[in-house]
Amino acid sequence: MSDGVLVDWSVNPRNSRARLLLLAYRTTRTLRLSRRPAARMLGRLSDGLYRVLSLWVLGVEMPWMTEIGPRLSLPHPHGIVLNAHARIGADVMIRHGVTIGGRRGAFDCPIVEARVDIGAGASLVGDITIGRGARIGVGAVVLKNVPPMASAYGNPAVVVAARPEAA
Ligand SMILES: CC(C)(COP(=O)(O)OP(=O)(O)OC[C@H]1O[C@@H](n2cnc3c(N)ncnc32)[C@H](O)[C@@H]1OP(=O)(O)O)[C@@H](O)C(=O)NCCC(=O)NCCS
Repeated sequence: MSDGVLVDWSVNPRNSRARLLLLAYRTTRTLRLSRRPAARMLGRLSDGLYRVLSLWVLGVEMPWMTEIGPRLSLPHPHGIVLNAHARIGADVMIRHGVTIGGRRGAFDCPIVEARVDIGAGASLVGDITIGRGARIGVGAVVLKNVPPMASAYGNPAVVVAARPEAA
């Protein structure tokens, strides 16, 4: 379990807030999803402490139910809201003030594929897919799919095709 809960450590250097937040998220998620009743019970306690840290101290809504791949980078871990039904891939960067959630309800939520870089204050809402390696601009409001390696910026977001060197 220890490797698993420390999986984000190396991509958040000199960032103790992000490290602690992600350690608490991974620990709570691991315990809550455990097959062992005692671990699940411990998970309730862990969830309580995680809520205090994430919601009350840091101002981050990142429920343990949200599926997040390894090596999540959070350069400024505050003002972030992730829906429990959103799915985040591996090696994603989420900056401060980002919202990833439902457009009309709680369930129509984005899938963010691996290696996506999300700028500060961006909102990604609805049943959309942000393709692998895409870049989302600061303050973007993304309501439609973004292809892999493309950039999206503005409100509503304009999608700019994949960079030639990256395609
Ligand atoms: C979207 C982004 C990834 C695009 O970067 P890029 O591919 O290098 O694109 P460029 O900077 O060359 O910009 C291309 C065009 O898009 C515009 N643009 C870029 N980002 C924009 C944004 N967020 N909102 C509105 N327009 C934007 C530029 O003004 C430029 O327009 P022009 O061609 O008319 O001059 C980048 O601008 C961005 O927003 N990164 C996030 C950075 C961030 O969150 N920083 C916070 C650090 S704490």
